[in-house]
Amino acid sequence: MGHLFQRKIIIGVCGGIAAYKSAELVRLLQKAGADVRVIMTQGAQAFITPLTLQALSGHSVHTELLDEEAERGMGHIELARWADAIIVAPAAAETLSSLNAGAANNLLTTVCLASSAPIFLAPAMNQQMWAQPATQQNISALVAKGFHMIGPESGEQACGDIGSGRMSEPSDIVNVVDSFFPSRELQNKHVVITAGPTREAIDPVRYLTNHSSGKMGFALARAAIEAGAKVTLISGPVNLETPGRVNRVDVISALDMLAACREVCKEADIFIACAAVADYRPRSVAQQKLKKTGEDNLTLVLEQNPDIVATIANEYPDLLCVGFAAETENLLEQARVKRAKKQLDIIIANDVAAQPVFGSDTNSVTIISENKEHTISSSTKLEIARQSIAEIARLTSSNKSNATRA
Ligand code: C5P
Repeated sequence: MGHLFQRKIIIGVCGGIAAYKSAELVRLLQKAGADVRVIMTQGAQAFITPLTLQALSGHSVHTELLDEEAERGMGHIELARWADAIIVAPAAAETLSSLNAGAANNLLTTVCLASSAPIFLAPAMNQQMWAQPATQQNISALVAKGFHMIGPESGEQACGDIGSGRMSEPSDIVNVVDSFFPSRELQNKHVVITAGPTREAIDPVRYLTNHSSGKMGFALARAAIEAGAKVTLISGPVNLETPGRVNRVDVISALDMLAACREVCKEADIFIACAAVADYRPRSVAQQKLKKTGEDNLTLVLEQNPDIVATIANEYPDLLCVGFAAETENLLEQARVKRAKKQLDIIIANDVAAQPVFGSDTNSVTIISENKEHTISSSTKLEIARQSIAEIARLTSSNKSNATRA
């Protein structure tokens, strides 16, 4: 326990007799230090009043999608972005079906659809409804889509039936959500992360670049914030929203990125190089737009860019340094060699031949440190980021950064 402190949690309450347990759920989350907001469906309000949950959460309960007043306070998109996690408890059969279909038919399903936060579902329904193939198909599909199921439990039901479909106890729900979050293990640490591509100018209108979307670096920034770190994200040109509480520094070229890294690393503890830095840049940048020469071929002379992560690892030996190795063959061997060559504490090996990585939300990687290699298969970039941050925190706390450097 202890991982819910200052986490921002939305509780979605659906119609069903188990809705009375939501009051206890709100109370337990508050007690754990979470900031709780409640969304109730219309059905839920037939079982428990918004006023009860407002009194317990200390905030107005959200009930309507198209309520002008509520949208002025915290609108549905803002609410979706605000959440670190959403718990739907009780999750009624109809809501499960809507979530699986991606329907945005009320405030709760709309917020779930609009949020990138992890969503926990604690179903509660009559045992016959739970056993129906339609419900079971929805559950399987939701799990495949990344929703987290909590329960249901078996036992006597309010309707007198005995079977599976009772909502899990609020304390069990809190335990599951608590253990999902990493602890605040990077509290008081300053983490610097590079992300995205760099652009290397050829002339005032053209440049060399690559397909990096920046998603992995941004996911790492979010995971480091979740772990309690202060985060500076040095990003090349990307089309992504900055995660909350992250200090973002925008750069264009590899040389800009190196200069920014040198500056912020003066006061950093951990450096994570996730950017796809251009290895070469045009030797000279034309002052005017280059014209066609009339020749069939044009020769562009390139010169090598500095290796940012290797430079930082060398100039700041106390910094824990993490790099990435995107390889198309001999992944692990090449990654181990790269870890040694660049003097990194950790390298995260990424097979770019096996799957479409660029721009995708999922990935498979192996996290390689001095004495541990840990593979994470086909997970979201955020999940990979969280596990990578946990491994980085483990090395930081055992204070092995210098001793274990390759
Ligand atoms: O050598 P390679 O480009 O495969 O190494 C990838 C790792 O090195 C990544 O962590 C990347 O961010 C970092 N890198 C760097 N500066 C460069 C090239 C790569 O920091 N010029």
